[in-house]
Amino acid sequence: MMKLLLCGKGGCGKSTVTALLAQSIAAKGCNVLVMDSNRSSFGLHRQLGLELPEDFLSFLKSLNPFSKKQEHGKEFEAKFKFFEPFWQLSDIPELYITRKGSLGLVSVGKFNVFEKNCALPAPKLFISFLSKLKTGTKDFVLVDTEAIVEPFGGGLEQGCDLILMVLDHSYESIRLSEKVANLCEKAGKKIYYIFNKVDGSNRTAMLGAIGKERVLSVIPPNEKLFQAGLVGREFDVFLPEIEGVASSLISGKFHFSY
Ligand SMILES: Nc1ncnc2c1ncn2[C@@H]1O[C@H](COP(=O)(O)OP(=O)(O)OP(=O)(O)O)[C@@H](O)[C@H]1O
Ligand SMILES: [Mg+2]
Repeated sequence: MMKLLLCGKGGCGKSTVTALLAQSIAAKGCNVLVMDSNRSSFGLHRQLGLELPEDFLSFLKSLNPFSKKQEHGKEFEAKFKFFEPFWQLSDIPELYITRKGSLGLVSVGKFNVFEKNCALPAPKLFISFLSKLKTGTKDFVLVDTEAIVEPFGGGLEQGCDLILMVLDHSYESIRLSEKVANLCEKAGKKIYYIFNKVDGSNRTAMLGAIGKERVLSVIPPNEKLFQAGLVGREFDVFLPEIEGVASSLISGKFHFSY
């Protein structure tokens, strides 16, 4: 149905919001694939209560007909052609996905685990994969990203239908929101904001600075989230502020819910 790119400054809560949205959308009966494209962070799979799957970039690399590495045998070679114009979620081999019900996780790879495989320009393969990925009517793909400039520098946004920017209560987030909105406009992509760890007077100040037009939700600081994030435990929280966003994404009717 939709490929979403989550971006925002370091530590604003991109992975947290990705995990919470993924859980909520899956609970509403959709297939969700979370794509962890942050090669230097280790929180997301823990927040989802999943093991880190095998490095997806090494799979994409092995499809290259010019690559010496052919790990997947004739069966896969026939099915996965490097230059295939379109991909479906079902084309991703199970080895590269960890799952819980209708929620799956793919990891591009981690720097200190798969250092060799993550060397540039390998992520270009992932960008190309994402552009070719076709989603079914009940499929959602959520791409969690690295630093703020990363998705826009490499063209990751081109493979996505919608950009969700997470903003914490900081001057940097406010300034970046303008920048990212401009980049999205140039790229012809719709963008919505989700404020995170924001409440009280910060909420008023942030809404005053940015306006409500693009804001979908305001998630307050949450002790349970903080605790789970700290020890790497699976999230088990119900947040109406996330439910509102999940419903908007599923219905395609975007409005400020909290
Ligand atoms: N609403 C919230 N309430 C309390 N703590 C939160 C909330 N959102 C995120 N956190 C905590 O803030 C920290 C940063 O969150 P997270 O890892 O999701 O950010 P990120 O933007 O993905 O970071 P990075 O840029 O390193 O990938 C974590 O410890 C997380 O548990
Ligand atoms: Mg993160």
